[in-house]
Amino acid sequence: MTTPYRIAILVGSLRKASYNRRVAVAMSALAPSSLTFEFVEIGDLPLYNEDLDTDGAVPAAWSRFRDAVRPVDGVLFFTPEYNRSVPGVLKNAIDVGSRPYGKSVWSKKAGAVVSVATGGIGGMGANHALRQSMVFLDVPMMQQPEAYIGHAAKLFADSGDVAGDDTKKFFRTVIDAYAAWVATIVGAR
Ligand code: FNR
Repeated sequence: MTTPYRIAILVGSLRKASYNRRVAVAMSALAPSSLTFEFVEIGDLPLYNEDLDTDGAVPAAWSRFRDAVRPVDGVLFFTPEYNRSVPGVLKNAIDVGSRPYGKSVWSKKAGAVVSVATGGIGGMGANHALRQSMVFLDVPMMQQPEAYIGHAAKLFADSGDVAGDDTKKFFRTVIDAYAAWVATIVGAR
């Protein structure tokens, strides 16, 4: 049996009932067995402050986060759109992982982003703002299919399950494409 690729999932919403988290859970459950997932939490990360990024002063949460992301093969982002961009909490996590200079945990991970919003545009502004940071951080991002998921409140039944077959099919298309992307970037196993 081949070793699965390790994928970190980062969710850019801290809400308990977050649609982004629900989509992340649903999509990862539909993934092929070549991927395993670890949800890496970002809500406890102190705001990035370079003064603290020195021996002995580094916040424990930053170290925990960097240690969680460093060993994985890929990063899969689920982000809401806040005012046409990425929520501050997610940008902060990206910044924390990018430093100290020369020790970024992001470089060369196989990346992808899914944006989930209650509006019709599906978080396209946030999706592309995140891609902009990933260019600089040298994270090769899956290009297609693009995943702008709008009208999020209509995607789930009262039971909490994904409501429609078309939605489930799209989730599977995205996660299958991502599995192929990870194999391309990391190399076949
Ligand atoms: C939003 N929302 C939002 N939606 C959108 O499509 N474009 C936007 O620019 C914004 N801006 C925005 C700012 C702030 C501060 C909040 C709190 C919300 C709505 C957003 O899509 C909605 O709240 C989602 O449900 C957030 O995702 P989670 O928390 O459900 O994962």
